[in-house]
Amino acid sequence: MEKRANFGSKLGIILASAGSAVGLGNVWRFPTEVGSNGGAAFICIYVLCVLLLGIPLMVAEFVIGRHTHKNTADAYRQLAPGTPWVFQGYLGVFTSWFILCYYSVVSGWTLKYLFSAIAGKVTTVTDSAAYFVEFTSHPWAPIICMVVVMLLCHIVIVRGVQEGIERSSKLMMPLLLLIIAVLVVCSFSMPGSEDGLRFLLKPDFSKLTSSVILSAMGQSFFSLSIAMGCLCTYASYFTDDARLLKTAGSVALIDTTVAVMSGFIIFPAVFSVADVSPDAGPGLVFITLPTVFEMAFAHVPWIGWFFAMMFYLLLLLAALTSMMSIHEPTTAFLLEHFQISRRAATRIVTLSCIFVGVLCSLSFGPLSDVKFLFGMTFFDFFDFVSAKVFLPVGGFIISLFVGWKLDRQLVRDELTNQGTVKMHFFSVYIFILKWVAPLAIGLIFLNELGLFS
Ligand code: TRP
Repeated sequence: MEKRANFGSKLGIILASAGSAVGLGNVWRFPTEVGSNGGAAFICIYVLCVLLLGIPLMVAEFVIGRHTHKNTADAYRQLAPGTPWVFQGYLGVFTSWFILCYYSVVSGWTLKYLFSAIAGKVTTVTDSAAYFVEFTSHPWAPIICMVVVMLLCHIVIVRGVQEGIERSSKLMMPLLLLIIAVLVVCSFSMPGSEDGLRFLLKPDFSKLTSSVILSAMGQSFFSLSIAMGCLCTYASYFTDDARLLKTAGSVALIDTTVAVMSGFIIFPAVFSVADVSPDAGPGLVFITLPTVFEMAFAHVPWIGWFFAMMFYLLLLLAALTSMMSIHEPTTAFLLEHFQISRRAATRIVTLSCIFVGVLCSLSFGPLSDVKFLFGMTFFDFFDFVSAKVFLPVGGFIISLFVGWKLDRQLVRDELTNQGTVKMHFFSVYIFILKWVAPLAIGLIFLNELGLFS
C-alpha cells in the first residue's frame, strides 16, 4: 500500500482549511446578507453562531476525518459499519460534487469580471445590470470562464495534497489577506465612508427578527464549509500532532475576519455614493459595486480601476481555494474507494462537473425556460438543493453522530491528542453536539424551506 498523503506543516493545515472556508461565501454572500438583514445586529448574531455552533461542528468533522485518515465515505464505514450512519459519508461526498457544479459557474463570473476590470470595462459601462445580464446569458462566454477556473482547480488537485493543495494555499491565502488590507484602507479613505461604518458597527437590535437570526446561522455554516465532506476530508490529511480545537479556532477567526473586512470594504464604498442601496441582494458585487467604483472615483478614474481589479482578484482567489476543497472529497473517494490513480480520479470529477456545470451556466441564457422541479432552473435547483437541503441535513446528522453515536473516549482522545493536551469544557462540547446544534439546525432547515414565513 502506498503511504497516505498528509499536510506537511501546521501552517499548511490552517491555511488550507482557511482557504476552504474563505470563499464566495465571505466576499459575496456575507455582505449581501448583512445588507439585507440590517447591518451590525446581524453581524453580532453571526459571530455568536460561529462560536456556539460553527466551531463545535467544525471540530466534529475534524474528529471523524483525523481519526480515520480516510475519505469521507469510508470514514463513516469504518466508524459505524453496517449502520445507516454510513449514508452520511456518501451524502457528504455527493454534496460536494453537487455544489462544485454550480459554485464553478459563479467562480467563472469572477474570472470574467477580473479580466473586464483589468481592461477598464467594469468601471466604464453605463448600465452595469445590463452588462451582467448580457454576460451571464451569453451562450458560451460564461461556459468558457467556468471551464477555465475548473481547469485551474484541476491542475492543483492533480498534484496532490502537499504539492497541490497545501502549496497553492500557502501562496494564495497570504496574497488574499494582503489584498483585503489594501482594499480596506482604500475604502475607508473615501469621502462619506462614515455612514457605511455606522451601518456596520452600530447595532440596531430592533431589526432582529427570527428570520434574521436563522439567516445568520445558515450563513455561518456555509461560510465555515460545514456539513459536506470538505473539512472531514482535509482533516484526514492532518498530522497526529495537529490540535483540532486550536485549528478550528484559527480557521473560524480568519474566516470571520475576512467576512467582516469584506463588509468594511464594500459598505463604506457603497454609502459614499448616494442613491445606491446597501440592500441590493445577490447583484451587490456584480452590479452595484461596479457602479460604486465608477461613481466614487469619477475624479481619479485610475483608483477606481485599481480598486475594481484588486477586488475581483480577491474574489477569484477566494473562489479558487474553496473550489479546491470542494473538488477533493470526491477525488479522494474515487481514488481510495476504487483504487484508481489520482490523475484518473481528478479527471472524472473535473469532467463530470464541467458537464453538469454547462447546464447550470446555460440556465441563465438559452436554457432559462427549461424548468426543473418546482419551476426552478438548473442553477436554482442545484443552489437550492445543496445549500438549503443537503447542508442542513448533513450538519444535523454529523452533530448527532459525534454527539450520540461515536465512542466518547474516541472523541476525547482526538480532541486531546491522546491525552497530551488539555481540554476544558468537554461535557459542554458534547452537550452542544447532542442538543443545541441539532435543534438549531432543525430550525434553520424549516426556516429555509419557508415554513416560518
Ligand atoms: N465556505 C466556502 C465559502 O465561504 C464555500 C464552501 C466550501 C462550502 N466548502 C463548503 C460551503 C462546504 C458549504 C459547505 O464560499
